[in-house]
Amino acid sequence: MGPQGQNPELIEFYASAAPGTEEAVRDELSELGFRSVRLNRGGVPFFGDWPEGWRACLQCRTAQRIMAVLGRFPAAGPEALYEAVRAVDWTCCLSPRHTLAVSAFVQSSAITHSGFAALRVKDAIVDQLRDRCGQRPDVARDEPDVRVFLYLNQDRATLYLDLSGEALFRRGYRLGAGEAPLKETLAAAILRLSGWDREQGLVDPMCGSGTFPIEAALWAGNVAPGLFRERFGFERWASFDATAAATLASLRGELRASAHGQHPGITAMDIDEAVLEVARRNARQAGLRLRFRQAAIRDLRPDGGPPRLLVVNPPYGERLEADPRLYQEMGTALSRLSGWRLAVLAGSPLIERAMPLRPSRRHALRNGDLPCELLLYDLA
Ligand SMILES: C[S@@+](CC[C@H](N)C(=O)[O-])C[C@H]1O[C@@H](n2cnc3c(N)ncnc32)[C@H](O)[C@@H]1O
Repeated sequence: MGPQGQNPELIEFYASAAPGTEEAVRDELSELGFRSVRLNRGGVPFFGDWPEGWRACLQCRTAQRIMAVLGRFPAAGPEALYEAVRAVDWTCCLSPRHTLAVSAFVQSSAITHSGFAALRVKDAIVDQLRDRCGQRPDVARDEPDVRVFLYLNQDRATLYLDLSGEALFRRGYRLGAGEAPLKETLAAAILRLSGWDREQGLVDPMCGSGTFPIEAALWAGNVAPGLFRERFGFERWASFDATAAATLASLRGELRASAHGQHPGITAMDIDEAVLEVARRNARQAGLRLRFRQAAIRDLRPDGGPPRLLVVNPPYGERLEADPRLYQEMGTALSRLSGWRLAVLAGSPLIERAMPLRPSRRHALRNGDLPCELLLYDLA
C-alpha cells in the first residue's frame, strides 16, 4: 500500500476535490506537510499513517472527503470483484454491531451498473463478517458507521474507505443559510485560487450567509476547520479504541493551541438584512468577529484604505435568477476599486460581459451541478 521506495506501512490516502479545485487541494496538503502529495483529476493522493489521515480531516479546508485506499485489483466480472473484496480484512473497521454503506462508480468495465457493483462489494463484506463473527453488519443508507466506495474503471477496481463521515464542507459552525450558500470547501478553494495572502484585507459585498468571510478568517487565524466538528467517520470504526481516541484528543489539542485567531480586516456586506443576520450568527458560532454592513453593491466605494481582495458570488443559476441590471451595477462599482484584486465566481456569461476589463486568470469550477468560472482581475 505504501509508495514505492517508502515505508510500506504508510497508507495511501485520497483527498477528493470538487472539479477545478484539485490544485488548491494539492497546494494545501503540501503546505500542511503531508507526504508524497500528487495531483490527479478529481483528487489528490498523499501518504501517511492513520493519525495523519485524521489530521487531514481536521485541517484540510478544501477537500470534499478524505479516504484511505484499501486495495487495487483487477475485477473483470462480478465474481472476481466479490472474491477480491472478500480477501480484504474488514474487521479493521467493521463488526456486526456497525452499519455499512457502499457506493460505486463504474466506467468502461464488464460490470456496467454501479448499483450492482456496490451490491457485490456489500455482499462480500457482510459474508466475510458473518464467517468470522457469526453475524453480519446491517446496511444503513443514512449515517452509516462505515462508508466504502468502489471505483471501477476498465475492469480495474480501487476500494476506498471514507474517513470523513459527513462530507467535510459540513464544518459544524453553520447555523443557517441564505438562498444559495456556497459549500465551505469550495469557498476555501476559491480563496486559495484567488492568491489571497491572508494579510491583505478582504471584502465580500454579496456575502449571503457569510461563507467567504468566515472561511477567510478561519484560514488567516490558523483555525483548523475540523475543530468545530463533533465527530468524523473514522471515530465510529471498530478499530477506533481508547488509545486512538487519546491520540486524536492530543492532536485536537495541538491544533487548538496553534490557532492564533488573528485576521486582517474582513468586511461582509449584503443588501438583505435578514441574510446578514444569518451570517452574523454563523460567524459568532465560529468564534469570529467580522465587520458586517447592509448595503447595495452599487453603493460600494473605495474608503481610502489600502487595496484589498474583493471576492464575490453574485446571484445566478437555478435558485437565484441572473439579473443583467445587477451585473451592470456590480461592474460599475467594482471598476472604482483601483489597485484591488477581484475574484468573481461567475455562473453566467452576463457577469463577465458586465465587468470593466478582461480577467487576468480564470478557473473552470462547478458549484454543485452548475458549471461556473472563477474570474480574477487586477485593477490598475
Ligand atoms: C449567491 S448569494 C451569495 C451566497 C454566499 N456566497 C453564501 O455562501 O451564502 C448572492 C447574495 O447577493 C445578495 N444580493 C443580491 N443583490 C444584491 C445587491 N444589489 N447588492 C448587494 N447584495 C446583493 C443576495 O442577498 C444574496 O445573499
